[in-house]
Amino acid sequence: MNEAEKPQSQLLVFDSAAALYRVAEGYVQRLAEAAVQERGSFLFALSGGSTPQPLFRRLADPHSLPWACTHVFWGDERMVPPDDPESNYHQAASLLLDHVPVPPSQIHRIPGEEDPVSAAEMYAQTLRATAGDGAAWPRFDLALLGLGADGHTASLFPGSAFPIAPEVATEAVLAKTENRPPARVTLTAQVFNSARHVIFLVRGEEKAEALAHVLEGEYKPRQWPAQRIHPADGNLLWFVDEAAASRLVSK
Ligand code: 6PG
Repeated sequence: MNEAEKPQSQLLVFDSAAALYRVAEGYVQRLAEAAVQERGSFLFALSGGSTPQPLFRRLADPHSLPWACTHVFWGDERMVPPDDPESNYHQAASLLLDHVPVPPSQIHRIPGEEDPVSAAEMYAQTLRATAGDGAAWPRFDLALLGLGADGHTASLFPGSAFPIAPEVATEAVLAKTENRPPARVTLTAQVFNSARHVIFLVRGEEKAEALAHVLEGEYKPRQWPAQRIHPADGNLLWFVDEAAASRLVSK
């Protein structure tokens, strides 16, 4: 594996939100074009929460990505109906998917209206069907992730059972999160770690301590679950603002 192919982990610190999202948009567009050129499709896993919202708005243009060849998934979902404002699907649909020509059959939401265990199994079946070659999940071209102030990512929360058996793709969890629905389904770390590219979007002073622990602290993935994300042979990019980076030594 030459230097160019060696998995990269890169920290990009931005002095403005506008710059962060402009560069992030450009990355997503280049990754999408390359994926479609090389493999005929772009497998894109979205995150929830507030941080990706400006990126969704920037991509809400019919020509932003090769939408006809794009398949949209979610890294996690709250167990609420798809029209609930707390639904990650609802957020992405209202800010992005309702404004672009992605074929509805290529939007693979986690069925938040189901009970968590059934939803996890149904989503695992969706992933198996997408992979198609007997694998338990597809290799995502890009997975977007956020970071909680407690170090969680997707719905991999501190203290959660770990490691999940290596062949398990999805997990039903009951999260202790302030003012957000606790019942969730999440992709497991191994699914994120098989992606070609993972991009974390992290903003705000309230994330600074968690980011410093995740990037520079001791490896304690049970306490800081975002440390579990390190793609085996993919690229890991951290798009952070100066406030979130304020406690980093090496920035
Ligand atoms: C969710 C997200 C979650 C989120 C972080 C950061 O369903 O809430 O998947 O993992 O990315 O909690 O959330 P903010 O971007 O709102 O800070």
